[in-house]
Amino acid sequence: MLHVQGLGGGYGDLTVLHDVDLEVGAGTLQVVLGRNGAGKTSLMSAIAGLLPTVRTGTISVNGRDVTALPAHKRAAAGIGLVQEGKRVFRARTVEENLLLGTYSSPGWSMRSAARKQALAAAYERFPVLHEKRADRAGGLSGGQQQMLAIAQALAADPKVLLLDEPSAGLAPAIRAEVFATARGLRDEGLAVVVVEQLVDVALDVADSVAVLDSGRIVSSGPPEQYRDGELLQAIYLGG
Ligand SMILES: Nc1ncnc2c1ncn2[C@@H]1O[C@H](COP(=O)(O)OP(=O)(O)OP(=O)(O)O)[C@@H](O)[C@H]1O
Ligand SMILES: [Mg+2]
Repeated sequence: MLHVQGLGGGYGDLTVLHDVDLEVGAGTLQVVLGRNGAGKTSLMSAIAGLLPTVRTGTISVNGRDVTALPAHKRAAAGIGLVQEGKRVFRARTVEENLLLGTYSSPGWSMRSAARKQALAAAYERFPVLHEKRADRAGGLSGGQQQMLAIAQALAADPKVLLLDEPSAGLAPAIRAEVFATARGLRDEGLAVVVVEQLVDVALDVADSVAVLDSGRIVSSGPPEQYRDGELLQAIYLGG
């Protein structure tokens, strides 16, 4: 579903991603692990079309090369991104935030009936958002804001969903809810990519793990391969 090959780039003259390959099938939950500054957010940005400079490589979704497309067209092509740090419009209502999500849908052409349907689907998935639909998003709890951010991304009907540290700063019970949601979406056939810093959490939810270090994928494979901790310790300490 998502196919990244030889991706390199960064911020102007500063290159922070080097020759990154990543393949995430439909119905797969891919976790990207890595230390602070490893390049995880830059990789998510690059896939979504938001990294300022992409020098090498290709990104394709469902066989379609999207490398040359700007971010809004990638969204329409099926790439959804929930950015690090819960980007909801705090002064807007829950429903207004969800409606914004529908404007990324293919060709901006979603009709009002389809918009209503997208809202109904979001409320069915996250009943608490229905309860609070007229409240300002800024008044939601951290976990609810993260659910709203995910619901907003889903409103555009993505095939690939990128979640950048979706559970950062959340209590363990809420974190578990966020990951249950991610797994549910995987079960519905999405290609889900989750950036996570907590190794134990990551290994519990992942179908497949990739470890980024200094902007390179230094290791990848099934979560079992990392369970005893030795491999990750070697990677993290070895630099
Ligand atoms: N806007 C920017 N301009 C210049 N350099 C940046 C910018 N954003 C990130 N970087 C640099 O790119 C590198 C990778 O950063 P990135 O944010 O992708 O890492 P990360 O793995 O997401 O880190 P964290 O775990 O802290 O979220 C770092 O060296 C960082 O300083
Ligand atoms: Mg980051």
